Amino acid sequence: MKFFLDTTILDEIKEMNEYGLVDGVTTNPSLIKKSGKKVHDVLEQICTIVKGPVSAEVVATDHAGMIGEAITLLGIADNIIIKLPMTMEGIKTCNVLSHQGHQTNVTLCFSTAQAIMAAKVGATYVSPFVGRLDDIGQEGMQLINEIVDVYRAQQFNTQVLVASVRSPIHVVHAARLGAHVVTLPPSVMKQMIEHPLTDKGLDAFLTDWKDTGQKI
Ligand code: E4P
Repeated sequence: MKFFLDTTILDEIKEMNEYGLVDGVTTNPSLIKKSGKKVHDVLEQICTIVKGPVSAEVVATDHAGMIGEAITLLGIADNIIIKLPMTMEGIKTCNVLSHQGHQTNVTLCFSTAQAIMAAKVGATYVSPFVGRLDDIGQEGMQLINEIVDVYRAQQFNTQVLVASVRSPIHVVHAARLGAHVVTLPPSVMKQMIEHPLTDKGLDAFLTDWKDTGQKI
């Protein structure tokens, strides 16, 4: 399973990248706003830190506008991939970009029917938003289960990129279901390594070691 980092904060990206945990980065217009930087600058800086795919989202809502923005975004760095909304225009644009050999990420996916549409037009990734479904009382992971099943049954090549992740439990469930990628806020990535019994055990080991008076 690949780990993408769901942030535009450069210090967080640098830090987590140094642990060898970052296979790529996802951004969206809200995360660009959060960075407080110009979109081109922040994407360029992210791409110098992380060599894996960096999702850059179009904001045009029509096909011609999306293509124009995609061309501009692709010019920023070789590892930029184009994030498109799950709309008819987004699907049309995904089809064109796929045929041109560009990588794509179809975002804002909330149903299996939508995921099938993204796969039909050759999306590299589809991003189902589990946390936002949980937020409205629907089972986000049920959607992942269904998409993974359908993609397997139909031998679609599109990878399931689990997005809107809120906790390590989401990551564990996504891994059990065979999702290809999760995109994580840095806080959730850190939470994944934490356990109170690990801290307690390490404290005890270090205390006992000190008592031995030895050095390694
Ligand atoms: C990533 O591709 C998505 O844009 C992101 O995971 C959405 O997360 P949110 O629901 O926490 O905004």
